[in-house]
Amino acid sequence: MEHILIVDDEAFIRENVQRILKDDCYAVLDAATGAEALERVSEQEIDLVLLDLNLGKENGINVLKLLKEADPELLVIIITGYGTVESAVDALKLGAFHYMKKPFKADALRVIVKLALQTGTLKREVRAIRKGEMELFEKVPMIGASPELKEIIRQVSEVARFPEATVLITGESGTGKELVAKAIHHLSPRREAPFIEINCASIPVNLLESELFGHEKGAFTDASARKPGIFETADKGTLFLDEIGEMDPAMQAKLLRVLETRRFRRVGGTRDIEIDVRVVAATNRNLKEAIREGTFREDLFYRLNVFPIHIPPLRERRGDIPALSKFFLERYSRTFSRNFQEISAEALRLLEAYRWPGNIREIKNVMEKICIMHTGPALLPEHLPAEISQPLPPPGQSGELPGNIGTIGLERAIEKYERDIIATALAKNDGNVLKTAQVLKIPRGTLRYKMAKYDLS
Ligand SMILES: Nc1ncnc2c1ncn2[C@@H]1O[C@H](COP(=O)(O)OP(=O)(O)OP(=O)(O)O)[C@@H](O)[C@H]1O
Ligand SMILES: [Mg+2]
Repeated sequence: MEHILIVDDEAFIRENVQRILKDDCYAVLDAATGAEALERVSEQEIDLVLLDLNLGKENGINVLKLLKEADPELLVIIITGYGTVESAVDALKLGAFHYMKKPFKADALRVIVKLALQTGTLKREVRAIRKGEMELFEKVPMIGASPELKEIIRQVSEVARFPEATVLITGESGTGKELVAKAIHHLSPRREAPFIEINCASIPVNLLESELFGHEKGAFTDASARKPGIFETADKGTLFLDEIGEMDPAMQAKLLRVLETRRFRRVGGTRDIEIDVRVVAATNRNLKEAIREGTFREDLFYRLNVFPIHIPPLRERRGDIPALSKFFLERYSRTFSRNFQEISAEALRLLEAYRWPGNIREIKNVMEKICIMHTGPALLPEHLPAEISQPLPPPGQSGELPGNIGTIGLERAIEKYERDIIATALAKNDGNVLKTAQVLKIPRGTLRYKMAKYDLS
């Protein structure tokens, strides 16, 4: 119920207003003096004040000032008897919502009160949304200006509202999958509960089951005590299953069953435990391809793919490059007490033209290195790593010599191609050296050597 405070020195006006507004189901409090009004406001959440400008000897304008000092957002409607227009105008300047002349009709009072309260609600909602956005920004800053990023943010806020929906995030390494998963958690009603992440690729198959579901004492040789799994730890919160594409097929079957029945058993346990967890899974693999290859279960894919979010690589949303570069440059400039203020036009052009095989993580690392090595105030082309500052046309464009071949020579040019190819292959395989070596058809040792040489490890 909304609370309205009527401040008037004349008892019959107070009673009259109370009678009219009580019929409309508002709770009406009253005060005869400014001091009383301030007391009411401090004791109780008041949605609207009706304030008489002529409070006997007191000046209502002063009371308005004091009320607004106590709560700048307080909604106040002024009531004036024979007051001049000027005092009403003064009141509006001080932030009063509206004014009414005495005597007023019951209906006129009802209408203006309703209008004021609606405005108040609207303002509060806008403030709450802004606050939510601000908090989100502080916890998980999602920088960028491209339509693609805006669409991702729209999808994140949409799915956040449905705390049960499973989400599948896909995108190359370094595009922000984990960031998106965290944003979903922080925007959702589960935000007070834990956000727990587990990397399905880095945990050995035989341990993953007990990591996820926990185990009972004596379930296997090393199980000296009962241990809860992360499905239990994440209760009421969000469970982030990273690199789901690498999950072992036997585990995939178990996970599918849990998602279908919303229950599980600890390893060695006999009792079903219900889960109240939102699952967000992520992968940089093409799961449809993995299904064709037989390494990923199709039924699990459809279970996870309830709400898919695809994050395009940075080279497909170049509109985000300037904002991201500035964001990380400013951040690391602060961290390392540098004085970077701007990015020169030429440097920005090079940044925008580069392919960014490592996506946002690569921008972040580049800016960090620049801030370690240079002081500012402007980021210049010579601060950029060679692969960005000395772009080569893609190999195969024959008939043309690279413009900078005279400066860097054939060997450097070939090295730069090699570095670019290795960086891209690594990004595509999520930094997995074994897989990258297989794709490039070179021994693992050679790849490691080249990674060290090109500063890619
Ligand atoms: N839009 C963005 N604004 C600001 N920072 C971002 C944005 N997107 C990603 N980042 C940052 O880039 C880095 C890489 O992002 P993240 O770890 O979420 O990528 P990922 O897709 O999970 O990568 P991987 O597949 O390698 O695990 C993180 O430091 C993250 O905070
Ligand atoms: Mg990740």
